Amino acid sequence: MSEATPDGRLRPPSHFVIDDHWYVACLSADLSRTGARPIKRTILGLPLVLFRDAEGRAAALVDRCPHRNAPLSFGRIRPDDRTLECGYHGWRFDGAGRCQAVPALCLGEGVGADTEGRRAEALPVVEAQGYVWVIPKVGAPAPGSAPFEFPRLGDGYTTVRDTMVAPSPVFAAVENALDVPHTAFLHGGLFRRADKPRTVIDVVVRSDAAGCEAQYVGEPRPAGLAARVLAPGGGEVTHFDRFFLPSVAQVEYGLGDTSHFVVTTAMTPVDEWESLLYAEVTFRLPLPAWLVRVFVTPIARRIFAQDAKILALQSETIRRFGGERFVSTEIDVLGRHIQRLMRAASTGAPAPVDAQRRIQLEI
Ligand code: FES
Repeated sequence: MSEATPDGRLRPPSHFVIDDHWYVACLSADLSRTGARPIKRTILGLPLVLFRDAEGRAAALVDRCPHRNAPLSFGRIRPDDRTLECGYHGWRFDGAGRCQAVPALCLGEGVGADTEGRRAEALPVVEAQGYVWVIPKVGAPAPGSAPFEFPRLGDGYTTVRDTMVAPSPVFAAVENALDVPHTAFLHGGLFRRADKPRTVIDVVVRSDAAGCEAQYVGEPRPAGLAARVLAPGGGEVTHFDRFFLPSVAQVEYGLGDTSHFVVTTAMTPVDEWESLLYAEVTFRLPLPAWLVRVFVTPIARRIFAQDAKILALQSETIRRFGGERFVSTEIDVLGRHIQRLMRAASTGAPAPVDAQRRIQLEI
């Protein structure tokens, strides 16, 4: 299926503004460490400043002082009341954006500094599972749903997490994380090899309003270094790739009864060309967790470095040509579903829901 327009014109980059969902803005630990300095982030092009207020709650304000547009991230957190003090004229704001002080302004008896026009713009914030989640929309209504929940899976499982920068639109990063055919080439020898005898397997694709899923049925145990390290005992392979709106990718992989891991990546669109990836690997393997960490960490970093390189080159090409042009086939299993779901979520259109379908893939 061609994603190019009928006359072959290039599309602009797949940048979908889904600003009514939760995104990870930073780690909870990032805020705990800030001391007197707030931290700044950008989500969907909106500059934010984050800090902990007097009650220890995470707070997010638009990074713009209402007085003269100085970035509030240039200011400091006061040690006495943990208000955020602008670095230009010293206006002070609490976690809800209310103005708590205008230095040198004479106020009448019992009159506070706060007026509607003096408020900084506050955003919905919640902390969960060690992450600070933000809805990057000024004036967003009270959210009706909680942020995405990372699977921690309980006894016998270990979770490691990492944060990475992907030099690409978030759609491209999500598709890359859930794309199987590229692994034989870009990561050749780690998962699969392009020159090995091929096996035809079935893929069952399901989709609903919140996301989509591909189940790989009858997948052989892959050859290659990563497979030997991650699944040394052999057994039946179970494999699911999942996408959850707005931009969470999840790969679940099992081998026999003893080896099981889930890689979940919550992706935060910084802007049209960059995404921040908050990844967790939760695993249970017949190896000591420390040994898995020793082997998996360098392999995971190598894989991500290869992905980051191709994503950067893809972005560079799209920029050079002034837009993107896609031609997809059936084995671009989830890409079209993800794109349609993101497009619908960004426009408020009804989510496209497909009947379950089954395709075949040479692996
Ligand atoms: Fe912030 Fe003046 S610009 S106090």
